[in-house]
Amino acid sequence: MENRNAQKDDSVYGRRQFFVAMGSGALALATTGGLVLTGNFLRPNVLFEPPAKFLVGKPNQYPLDSVVYLAKPKILVIREKEGYFYALSTVCTHLGCIVNWKAQEEIIACPCHGSRFNKLGEVTGGPAPKPLPHFAMNLTVDGYLEVDKNVLVDLSDVLKI
Ligand code: FES
Repeated sequence: MENRNAQKDDSVYGRRQFFVAMGSGALALATTGGLVLTGNFLRPNVLFEPPAKFLVGKPNQYPLDSVVYLAKPKILVIREKEGYFYALSTVCTHLGCIVNWKAQEEIIACPCHGSRFNKLGEVTGGPAPKPLPHFAMNLTVDGYLEVDKNVLVDLSDVLKI
């Protein structure tokens, strides 16, 4: 009889321990989840974008009559054979795909829906509704080319050095 009560006590004790452990685990899980959510709420929800105004090197890095694609700022730096510069966006004005310079054909082509642009960025074919935007270019006092994507300029607005 005594042995039976001891077994019953053991089983009650074991069950109690089990429920205490489960409750503690659930509490710890809920606390951790709450802390993670609070941390996410307190962290600033900021989108880090590259600066809109940046240097693209020295003029002598660009040969005359060249088109250079710069992937990170998504621009084409074009130096005409007369020596002047301009910078074009490589974001297609149709639905935003990145356009490519095709040197053999001397066109800028969009791989998505077939828009075509001439070297000035003017639409020559396809669904693009507008020319590729031109960004302002300047020469810094220490001789670097600087592009400002915040400032759009006219097609005829080029940087003469
Ligand atoms: S996104 Fe360039 S043609 Fe559609």
